[in-house]
Amino acid sequence: MQCHNLCLLGFGNVARALVRLLRAKTPELRDRYGIDWQITGVATRRLGWLVNPRGMDSAALLAEPAGLAGTVAATNFQEWLRLARPDVVFELTSLEPRTGQPAIDHLRAALDAGAHAITANKGPVVHAYHELRDLAQARGRRFLFEATVMGGGPIFSLFRETLPATTVRRFRAIFNATSNLILLEMEAGVSFEAAVMKAQALGIAETDPSNDVDGWDSAVKVATLATVLMDVPVPLAAVQREGIRGLRPEVVRAARAAGRPFKLVCQAERVGGGVVASVRPEQVPLDDPLASVRGTDLLVHFETDTLHGLTIIEHGSGPDTTAYDVMADFISAVRTR
Ligand SMILES: NC(=O)c1ccc[n+]([C@@H]2O[C@H](COP(=O)([O-])OP(=O)(O)OC[C@H]3O[C@@H](n4cnc5c(N)ncnc54)[C@H](OP(=O)(O)O)[C@@H]3O)[C@@H](O)[C@H]2O)c1
Repeated sequence: MQCHNLCLLGFGNVARALVRLLRAKTPELRDRYGIDWQITGVATRRLGWLVNPRGMDSAALLAEPAGLAGTVAATNFQEWLRLARPDVVFELTSLEPRTGQPAIDHLRAALDAGAHAITANKGPVVHAYHELRDLAQARGRRFLFEATVMGGGPIFSLFRETLPATTVRRFRAIFNATSNLILLEMEAGVSFEAAVMKAQALGIAETDPSNDVDGWDSAVKVATLATVLMDVPVPLAAVQREGIRGLRPEVVRAARAAGRPFKLVCQAERVGGGVVASVRPEQVPLDDPLASVRGTDLLVHFETDTLHGLTIIEHGSGPDTTAYDVMADFISAVRTR
């Protein structure tokens, strides 16, 4: 049984859900995979660079990270890495869509220090996928990011592990639950503003919903997926983007009545040697898999050179399912049986 030192960059919803899940799954990880773990480092801007090389009390960490007994505060990231000696660094900080920093620098340094690098953050994948992939390979480590798109739905690992020699020609998707919910509410006669407030009351939309309704969140996910699965760098700026803010409720209602409801459709398609990617509201026929997406479900439909069509639907994604993807990456990275 090998005990792995784990370091967490970011200690928000996903990181806390990951620690809870690891605690719940500890017997299974030990018995089935021979994997044990301890947390030797936790860092956020507010908490600083916390280290305990002998392993933190994970229950106490969840209860009160700031006052944790036995931890010392490193002065910077490099010292934190040196003292915590991670086998795996989980990069679970907030998305910085324009540059992907400082997460890219942190992941690069983690790999250079000999750790596996696992992230739920789309920024490093959009901005530095090829570099981090190659660096991980050169260091004999893994760079994994299953949680970045449809947290809880296996996409990257599905293609990596089970679909060899398959080329993705095109995918279409609904990646933003908030926009989908707002469109469904508008179909039922609710105004755009009231639909946003309902999504906020349900805890799905953020206080500032512009990332969702203006298509930014979807665009980052399209760029992430296309960059990895089509193996062509697709910068965020290259994704043509239009949100749902300009749709009038009566137009949305009429579209549903005509059997071609509006959805905020994400798409990427190989054209020549490149990829054309977009996010925009589109009317979809009722027999299109995208038309069936309800509530907070997410869906992606792939067209490949080997399969006639592959659709993945995820029901009820959130921090817990995202944390599951992160844990699955951890097991993939370190398992020996
Ligand atoms: N929530 C989900 O269901 C979900 C699904 C898929 C993907 N993701 C992705 O997973 C990541 C984490 O999401 P979350 O919901 O856990 O976010 P969150 O609750 O907002 O937590 C973010 C954490 O990152 C820390 N942080 C932010 N910037 C930092 C920096 N520059 N250096 C160090 N720490 C930093 C924050 O603490 P301080 O403010 O103290 O620094 C906080 O602890 C995000 O990239 C998100 O896009 C989330």
